[in-house]
Amino acid sequence: MSADTTAINRHMTHFDRHSSFWLFGYGSLIWKADFPFLERRPAWIEGWARRFWQGSHDHRGTAEAPGRVVTLVREPGARCHGMAYRIEPDTLGALDLREKNGYLREKVELHLDGGGVEEGLVYLATADNAAFLGEAPLAAMAGQIARARGPSGSNRDYLINLALSLAALNARDAHVDALVAALPEQD
Ligand code: SIN
Repeated sequence: MSADTTAINRHMTHFDRHSSFWLFGYGSLIWKADFPFLERRPAWIEGWARRFWQGSHDHRGTAEAPGRVVTLVREPGARCHGMAYRIEPDTLGALDLREKNGYLREKVELHLDGGGVEEGLVYLATADNAAFLGEAPLAAMAGQIARARGPSGSNRDYLINLALSLAALNARDAHVDALVAALPEQD
């Protein structure tokens, strides 16, 4: 699959006729909400685990030296915490551009903190996209994150921001914490 998913995502019209719907963010969408939203609530999804297995050529790395950012992988019994935003369909165009490096719109059932289960949308990057990196030894992943930098800033900041946001949500993630602990010292 091409790394640029904007054209594919335009065909996923499931939410187009809703006046508003929930978007679930589990990576930079937790702390970098640079899009309009009507409300936001902490939320979680079940059966998915967050993993730093997606390459980033356009935000936290380059084509020559990709960074590592998160995607979701299926894991029975897992719970992934994040932030849900109630958005209007018009907002999807900008989100498609932001998430264009391999992420596809997917339907997901999300659980809102404080009660309520809703059908929502998530951007996830599957193993067949051109930017997918997959698993690597922890030290190799942490080393790549420590070195990479792209137009949106350093890959290290992406990881640290995610860890801090999850801690603020009282929703720490062992995979994220292990990568933070494995980061080499900054020069
Ligand atoms: C997300 O945050 O939900 C998707 C991955 C990212 O943009 O970091």
